[in-house]
Amino acid sequence: MINENPIGLFDSGIGGTSIWKEVHSLLPNENTIYLADSKNAPYGLKSKEEIIALSSKNTELLLNLNCKIIIVACNTATTNAIKELREKYDVPFIGIEPAIKPAAIQSKTQKIGILATKGTLNSDLFHKSVANHPEVKIIEQIGHGLVQLIENGDIDSPDMEDLLKSYLNPMIEKNIDFLVLGCSHYPYLIPQIKKIIPSKIRIIDSGEAVAKQTQNILEQNSLINTSKNKSSQIFYTNSETEVLNSILDYKEKVIYRNF
Ligand code: DGL
Repeated sequence: MINENPIGLFDSGIGGTSIWKEVHSLLPNENTIYLADSKNAPYGLKSKEEIIALSSKNTELLLNLNCKIIIVACNTATTNAIKELREKYDVPFIGIEPAIKPAAIQSKTQKIGILATKGTLNSDLFHKSVANHPEVKIIEQIGHGLVQLIENGDIDSPDMEDLLKSYLNPMIEKNIDFLVLGCSHYPYLIPQIKKIIPSKIRIIDSGEAVAKQTQNILEQNSLINTSKNKSSQIFYTNSETEVLNSILDYKEKVIYRNF
């Protein structure tokens, strides 16, 4: 089966490229189009209605570009809008949610920390996943300011270090043994986080699981691309291209587009 139409991904900005990297590494034959809606970042402080409207706008552009499946590479958009997107558009959607389940199952101290946006932590979908694990204590922390610093390219800055310490130290004191990264921007902070938390605390994000789920859904719907043609990877941003280029090591194709 050869379906060369691209996989579409979108995020409020550059963070969802952490998901794109996992998808591309598992499915290198697939063509992909990534939308970085950096102009509207952060989504995490917006209302549910605004997040649904922005997610619909991104979906419509990806559908106009002939995408065969859409990965909502943003926890905030998934937890607030995926139900509405699935109702509105006739295309398979893959969402990304904080990996509470694997952390809860493996935790020995029965205490896990989660760092995510306000929009994700306040969503009904997130409350439902937490309610499935009454055996563990979940220490929630909104990552105020982290997305803005990442979007500005200030990943390795003193401000970032201060913010991360203020969010992580209280979790360390509460004896967590898992830290769930519930925002697709945060995997870019793993080196900085590792300098703060003890090595016995495991960091979990959802990238690999999303890539596997994408593969399964493509196979189930006969949408997989088995063509041996060189695949094309396109990144559209509606803000400046520099930061997106730098996290992709300037290797990929980053294009400004007004959307
Ligand atoms: N990358 C996003 C997420 O996974 C959204 C961050 C934001 O825009 O607030 O939640």
